[in-house]
Amino acid sequence: MTNDPTAKTLAELGVSDAAGVARLFDDLKVRFRVELARAADEGDWRAVLRDWQGPGSALRSRVIANWTRGGSDTLCDRVRRENEGLIGFVNLRLGVMLSLEEAGLNNAEVVGPRFATLENSFDREIEDCNDEADLNRTKLAWTSRNSGLLTRISSNWLRPAPPGVKRTVGQAFNRLKGHIEQALESRRAEIEVAAEQTALTRERKDLSLPGVVRPLGSRHPLRQTFEEIERIFLSLGYSVVAGPEMETPYYNFEALNIPEHHPARDNMDTFYMAAPFAQGAQGKPGAAPLLLRTHTSPMQVRAMEKQQPPVRIIVPGKVYRRDNPDATHGFMFHQIEGLAVDTDITFCDFKGTVEYFVREFLGPGVKTRLRPSYFPFTEPSVEVDATCVFCGGKGCNVCKQSGWIELFGAGMVDPAVYGFVNYDAARYSGFAFGLGVERLTQLKYNINDLQLYFQNDVRFLRQFA
Ligand code: PHE
Repeated sequence: MTNDPTAKTLAELGVSDAAGVARLFDDLKVRFRVELARAADEGDWRAVLRDWQGPGSALRSRVIANWTRGGSDTLCDRVRRENEGLIGFVNLRLGVMLSLEEAGLNNAEVVGPRFATLENSFDREIEDCNDEADLNRTKLAWTSRNSGLLTRISSNWLRPAPPGVKRTVGQAFNRLKGHIEQALESRRAEIEVAAEQTALTRERKDLSLPGVVRPLGSRHPLRQTFEEIERIFLSLGYSVVAGPEMETPYYNFEALNIPEHHPARDNMDTFYMAAPFAQGAQGKPGAAPLLLRTHTSPMQVRAMEKQQPPVRIIVPGKVYRRDNPDATHGFMFHQIEGLAVDTDITFCDFKGTVEYFVREFLGPGVKTRLRPSYFPFTEPSVEVDATCVFCGGKGCNVCKQSGWIELFGAGMVDPAVYGFVNYDAARYSGFAFGLGVERLTQLKYNINDLQLYFQNDVRFLRQFA
C-alpha cells in the first residue's frame, strides 16, 4: 500500500504535533474496525489478527519504527502512548472473536476474571467520554446489534458454551451487559448536566462589565432655534400652524400683491414643478404650474381665508429659492412667518412685539431699530436690525464695523392683501414678519457658513448638544 501512512515518517506525513499524532491513531482505529468487520463477514477474521496482532505484525512494527523516527522526544512519547491505546483497542476487539476454548473460558474459573477485564476496558473507555459524540461512539462499539462487542461475546462465547459453563458465562454476560447499560445511562446524564453547566456559565450575565454606551443624540441647532422662537410667540398668545411646501402661484405671489411681472416670479428665481398643475379655484386664476414656495408668507393668505380676525399665528417651515449654495445661500432654508390681525393693531404693537422678541431671543442688552424697506404685501415695510451681538454695537467684522446687523423683514399688512381674503380693510389692521431661521441661528452662535447646517458633521452638531 503505497499511501499507507504507517510506511512513512511523521515528517513525511506532515505531522508535527500531538493532535496530528492522535489523528493518525484515530484513523488507524477506524481502519482496523472496517477491516475486522469486513473480514468477520467473510469468515476470515484471523487474517486481521495476523496483520494487527501477530508476533510478526508488520503493521505494528512499522508504526513504532516509522513514527518515532526523527520526531522530537515529546512526539515520540506521544506515539508510544497512542500505540499502547491502539494495542488495547485491537486486543479487546480481537479477543472477543476468539472461540470459547481459545479464550480459555471452558474453564469456569477463568470466566469471572475475563469478564472483569472486559468491564475494566469498558470503564476506561467511558471515562474518556467527554461529550455526546464520544458517548455514542462507545455505545455503538459495545452494544451495536451487528458487530458490537456484546454481540460478539454473545455469539462467540455464550451461544456455543457447553452446559458446564453456560450458566457462569450467561451470568457474567448479563452482569456485564447490565453494567454497560447502566453506566452509559449515568454517563449520559453526567454529560448533559456538564453541558448545561457550561451553557449556563457561557450565558451568565456579568454585571460587573461596563455598560453599553448609547450616545444620546441632540436637537439640530436649527430645530433648537425653531423651538426657542415658538416658545417666545406661544407665550404671547400666538398659535403655530404649518402649510404646504408646494404652492400655487396664487398664494405664493398674487394674493400677496406680487404682480405677474414681478422679478421674484422669474424662472431663474423660483423652482416650478413640471407637474401637477394647480387647479383654478373659484374666483381665482386657472391652471398654472405649482412651485416650491419661496417664503412662508402664502400661509398668511391661507390662514386669513380660513378665519376672520383676530389672527395670531406663526408658521415655521422650509422654503426654496434658486440659489447656488455658498456660505450665505442655499436652495432650501427655513423661515418662521408671523401674522397678527385684529381691530386696533397699530405700528406701536408691531414695534413692541418685535422688540420683545429680539430681546427674548438675543438677550436683554440688545437694542433694535427699524429701517425702511419694501415688500409688496406690507406697507410700511421695514428691516429689523439689532445691535451687533458680537461687539455690542462697537463695530466688528461681523457687522462690517456698523454696530448693527440685519435680522429680518417685516411690516404692517398691506390693505391690498385684505382684498384677497375678504377682510374689511377699514376695520382690521395687522403686521407680519418673516424670520430667517438660519440667519438667526447664525447670529446667536456665530456660525459663519450656512452649509454647516446641512452637512450633518457630528463634530459641528455636537457643539449644540
Ligand atoms: N416673505 C418675506 C421674505 O421672504 C419676509 C416677510 C414676511 C416680510 C412677512 C414682511 C412680512 O423675504
